[in-house]
Amino acid sequence: MLKDLHIAEVSEKVINQFPKGALLTVKSKDKLNTMTIGWGTLGRVWNKSILTVMVRFSRLTYDLIREADSFTVSFSMDDSLKQAINICGTKSGRDVDKFKECSLTPAYVDEIESPYIAEGDLHLICKTVYKNTMEPELLSEDLKDRWYKDNDYHVIFYGEVLKVLVKE
Ligand SMILES: Cc1cc2nc3c(=O)[nH]c(=O)nc-3n(C[C@H](O)[C@H](O)[C@H](O)COP(=O)(O)O)c2cc1C
Repeated sequence: MLKDLHIAEVSEKVINQFPKGALLTVKSKDKLNTMTIGWGTLGRVWNKSILTVMVRFSRLTYDLIREADSFTVSFSMDDSLKQAINICGTKSGRDVDKFKECSLTPAYVDEIESPYIAEGDLHLICKTVYKNTMEPELLSEDLKDRWYKDNDYHVIFYGEVLKVLVKE
């Protein structure tokens, strides 16, 4: 059973869990994919609870999320997604069906196109409200050298958190 919580009730968990990895899942038209993310921010903008995720141009996920109007992020507090997080962070949906390979089940919330990963135990269901391509000339040289030597920049997607689902 999943229960609905307010984002403030899980914010600490979300921030602590990101370094262990989470699954960013997107569906656009008939295409579905999930990939591991380790970075994200949670906060308040436009009087809304906003989750941002960062997706590099090279990801299959980028091709989907740029066309989609929603995304979800699923975490597992008990490490049950650990193997999936490893696989989905190293293999591309261009080469494998990660849902099959990792035995993941997409689960849907009413009227939201992107599913969450049923095997997780904390899910943030988001509607995309803004996208922002990084501008290299505005980035510090340190970060450019550390993360973007190959020019594979991130696009930042801002999701209004519509639902927070937690396994009881
Ligand atoms: C722990 C971890 C965190 C990651 N975080 C991100 C991230 O925040 N953004 C990103 O674009 N890629 C990130 N990646 C890399 C993608 O998950 C990886 O390239 C994946 O294979 C892309 O899949 P896709 O081509 O199916 O979208 C991360 C990988 C790992 C292992």
